Amino acid sequence: MRFVITGAAGMLGQDVVAAARSAGHEVLALPRAELDISSRAAVEDALGAARADVVVNCAAWTNVDGAETSPEDALAINGAGAGNVAHAAAASGAWTIHVSSDYVFDGSKRSPYVESDVVGPVSSYGRSKLAGEREVEAEAPGRHTIVRSSWLFGAFGPCFPATILRLAAERDELMVVDDQVGCPTFTGHLAHALVKLATSRPLGVVHVAGGGDCSWYEFAREIVAGAGVSCEVRPCSTAEMPRPARRPAYSVLRSERGDEAPALAEWREGLVDYVAATREVSKT
Ligand SMILES: NC(=O)c1ccc[n+]([C@@H]2O[C@H](COP(=O)([O-])OP(=O)(O)OC[C@H]3O[C@@H](n4cnc5c(N)ncnc54)[C@H](OP(=O)(O)O)[C@@H]3O)[C@@H](O)[C@H]2O)c1
Repeated sequence: MRFVITGAAGMLGQDVVAAARSAGHEVLALPRAELDISSRAAVEDALGAARADVVVNCAAWTNVDGAETSPEDALAINGAGAGNVAHAAAASGAWTIHVSSDYVFDGSKRSPYVESDVVGPVSSYGRSKLAGEREVEAEAPGRHTIVRSSWLFGAFGPCFPATILRLAAERDELMVVDDQVGCPTFTGHLAHALVKLATSRPLGVVHVAGGGDCSWYEFAREIVAGAGVSCEVRPCSTAEMPRPARRPAYSVLRSERGDEAPALAEWREGLVDYVAATREVSKT
C-alpha cells in the first residue's frame, strides 16, 4: 500500500514512517515543513498528487498548556486541520487514520473508558482534539478510523520518561503527581498498530493504548528504577503542582471493539522497548 504520513517529523510520526516501511509499504513522509495541515489548499494539492491508499495524520498541536492561551491556534490544527486531511484523503480515494486523545474525556469515571463513553473535554487541547474527531467524521464519512491513544512516549520526542531521566540525574528527589491515572503508550508499539489498522480499516473510533494503567508517580518510579539512578521519587497531588490546563484525573482507555482494536503490550514492556529504542537512536 501507499501511505502518506502527515506530521512525519513528530514523535509518533517518525515511528509510523519506520513501521510502515518495515511492513513493506511505500511511504511519503510529510513533515510540517513540507505540509501545513491548517492550509486546506496545500493539503488538497499534496494529497491530490500523492495517490495514497492510506493517510495517517500524526500532525497536531500538542502543547496542552499552551492551548489554554492559544485556543484558536490549537483548533486550527487539531480541528480544522484534521478536517482538511480527512477531506482531501477522501476526495483522493484514500482511507484516513486520525490520531486522537484520551483528553477528550473529563476523567470522572473510575473504570476504563470505552469508545461509546460520553466525551467531555476539560481543556482547550481536549476540545480541539474532539473537534478534530468531529471534522474527520464529517469530512470522510465511511472512510476513516479515529484512534484514541494516551500518554505517548517515544524515542523521537521530548516525553515524560526523557524528562524524568534528565531530572533524576540532576536531583536527589522528584515530586510527581499520583492522582492522575492513565495508560502510558510507547509510540513504537502504537505505530505498528496504526499500520495494521490501515489494512483492517475498522470504521469510527478505536481505543489503542498501552496495557495496564498507572499514575504519573508510578510511571516515574518505574523509569528511575529501570535506570538505576539514585533519586527518590515522591508522590504529590495535582493541586500541589498546578498547571495551566486541567488534565483528566482518570483516562484509562480500553476497547469494546474486540478484535477490531489491536491490543498493545503492557506499559512496562513499552518502557523497556523505549529504552532500547532510545539507545538505537542515540547511535545514529
Ligand atoms: N503526546 C501524547 O501524550 C499524546 C497522547 C494522546 C494522543 N496524542 C496525539 O498523538 C498525535 C502525535 O503526537 P506526538 O506526541 O507525536 O506529538 P509531536 O511530537 O508534537 O508531533 C506532532 C507533529 O505535528 C507537527 N505539526 C504541528 N502543527 C502542524 C501543522 N499545522 N501542519 C503539519 N504538522 C504540524 C509538529 O511539528 P512542529 O514540532 O514543527 O510543530 C510535530 O512534528 C497527535 O495527534 C496527538 O494529539 C499525543
